[in-house]
Amino acid sequence: MTSRPLFLYALCGSQRQASTSRRLLEAMRLACPDNIAIEICDLIGALPIFNPDHEGGKTPPIVEKFAARIREADGLIVSCPEYAHGIPGGFKNALDWLVSRDEVPFKPLMFAHASHRGDLVLEQLTEVLRTMSLRIVSEAFLRLPIAGKGDEAQAEALVQALNNGLLLTSLSRFAAAISTEG
Ligand SMILES: Cc1cc2nc3c(=O)[nH]c(=O)nc-3n(C[C@H](O)[C@H](O)[C@H](O)COP(=O)(O)O)c2cc1C
Repeated sequence: MTSRPLFLYALCGSQRQASTSRRLLEAMRLACPDNIAIEICDLIGALPIFNPDHEGGKTPPIVEKFAARIREADGLIVSCPEYAHGIPGGFKNALDWLVSRDEVPFKPLMFAHASHRGDLVLEQLTEVLRTMSLRIVSEAFLRLPIAGKGDEAQAEALVQALNNGLLLTSLSRFAAAISTEG
């Protein structure tokens, strides 16, 4: 019997072209075994500013598209930098669109963190996402501190993490937690 791969939707908190958070997600995508597929969300920077008056029947089409991919996902990966000791505004905006909807409650989620710093944003995201009833899989937490390194050193660290199984280990832990439910 063949079953479809687990679909993981990856949300990046940085809009920067050379984002280390995004590079980490791209490396994770390369590390996926056959039973896991990762798609990196490209909609977050294009979402309008959240307004409760624009929910329900007035929800913008791009928000519906974003929410539909979240619904289809077996799990979410969040890779988000810290800005001014908090969550980048654009990323919080994306989360705000999901608060009153039914896609995210009990959805499994793992963090992939590209910095040796930024523990405050991890704490704040944990609080916000738990409030939104997501299921954070802490044993899958992945930290690969490439922020602050040059492009070459980043690439070296990512290749090393691909080759030594660091990325695969976190993905496998996440997949196992999704499969067993919580
Ligand atoms: C506006 C701004 C504010 C930042 N504030 C913090 C901060 O409070 N704490 C921290 O550790 N890093 C801070 N940083 C550094 C970023 O978190 C760091 O550069 C991160 O790697 C950027 O992620 P990216 O490469 O995915 O864009 C800040 C960066 C910017 C641009």
